[in-house]
Amino acid sequence: MKNFPHSSLTETLKTIETPFYLYDMGLLNRTLDKAKEAADKRGYFIHYALKANNNNPLLIAIREHGFGVDCVSGNEVSKALEMGFNPSTIDFAGIGKTDEEIETALAADIFSLNVESIEELEVIDEIAERMGKVANVSLRINPNIDAHTHKNITTGLSENKFGLDLTSLPKLVDRLHIFTHINVKGLHFHLGSQILDLSVFKKLAVKASQLNNYFEKQGFNFEHINMGGGLGVSYKNPGNEPIADFEAFFKVFEENLSLPKGVKVHFELGRALVAQCGILVTKVVFVKKGLTKKFLILDGGMTELIRPALYQAFHLTENISRNEVPETYDVVGPICESTDCFGENLSLSTSYRGDLVAIYTTGAYGQVMSSKYNMRDKAKAYYVANGILSDENAYLESIKAATK
Ligand code: LLP
Repeated sequence: MKNFPHSSLTETLKTIETPFYLYDMGLLNRTLDKAKEAADKRGYFIHYALKANNNNPLLIAIREHGFGVDCVSGNEVSKALEMGFNPSTIDFAGIGKTDEEIETALAADIFSLNVESIEELEVIDEIAERMGKVANVSLRINPNIDAHTHKNITTGLSENKFGLDLTSLPKLVDRLHIFTHINVKGLHFHLGSQILDLSVFKKLAVKASQLNNYFEKQGFNFEHINMGGGLGVSYKNPGNEPIADFEAFFKVFEENLSLPKGVKVHFELGRALVAQCGILVTKVVFVKKGLTKKFLILDGGMTELIRPALYQAFHLTENISRNEVPETYDVVGPICESTDCFGENLSLSTSYRGDLVAIYTTGAYGQVMSSKYNMRDKAKAYYVANGILSDENAYLESIKAATK
């Protein structure tokens, strides 16, 4: 259990119905502090990609740090507004925005709709005119840069469905002049997720600067340029690397972006802000001896954490009830699907029925992607702050009391 930061709580954890998500609010706040410090000193602004996790306690911490929000649905825009984020800090991306979603965004006067096609611009122009508004938009350009990450989470290649492709730009520039209810305020990019090779971001910074220059020559002086998200985290070693290297990440942009003075640089980070603060806690239901393998069958599975099944993602997995001689297990969930497997041939302490098993780095794209497949109950969330464990209501009460 060398990676488990809450061993003083293991007796309490044993009494909670599993599986459940456990969020470390101290680590979240330290991560947000680091990200903010590195961004602020360069004048950069961070929108939190709310799709990664939309639990209220996390959103409150993020709002209190002064971050904005990056949304990908009308419901996410509504959620951000409900949580008290200033509309002028909310952006809204997505290739398939419906009329209702566009109306929600325009009615709230959000910072920017990030537009992904000429067809979408036409519809936004029409809706804005009908609503008597001028829509603030940013053009999401697909820069055709390989993010060197899993193919299912790559978005910035020409073959991907996202963004305006480079060859369409001359046509786009012609059309932009005829829209009467659109104010193009900036450019937007997003290459993909879980990117650990910083040279990918260097390529993006260089390309984005060239593209800004191209638009400037066509008479567009943008207010901002949004470099998207994608900074990866350590899934292999969360104990030793709990906080992503925000300083190195932003430095790449500082050194490689070349923009006219006054153009504000924005980012949309999700995973790097919230992944490490979340742990999925499950219980061993059976230790099953197969013909050649030993299966550790947990009560949590792909319904709680789909990343291994969907992207062959690795999550460090540890028995937090005991620390005995390691054994090799296939760690699997109870769902009736063979892909419901957290990992094959994983080394864990010898384990027994009833032991708790922690699955790390699950704060991002964990709970939000859970499902009720097999009529499973939704896992609950608990929060640790200053060594105290609470459920969501108790946690929210405690922060309310602290600010009185
Ligand atoms: N901006 C846009 C336009 C995005 O599409 C995304 C993520 C982000 C920002 C935030 O990216 P991040 O900083 O979190 O990498 N479910 C997958 C990840 C999908 C990411 C979708 N877009 C996973 O579990 O790996």
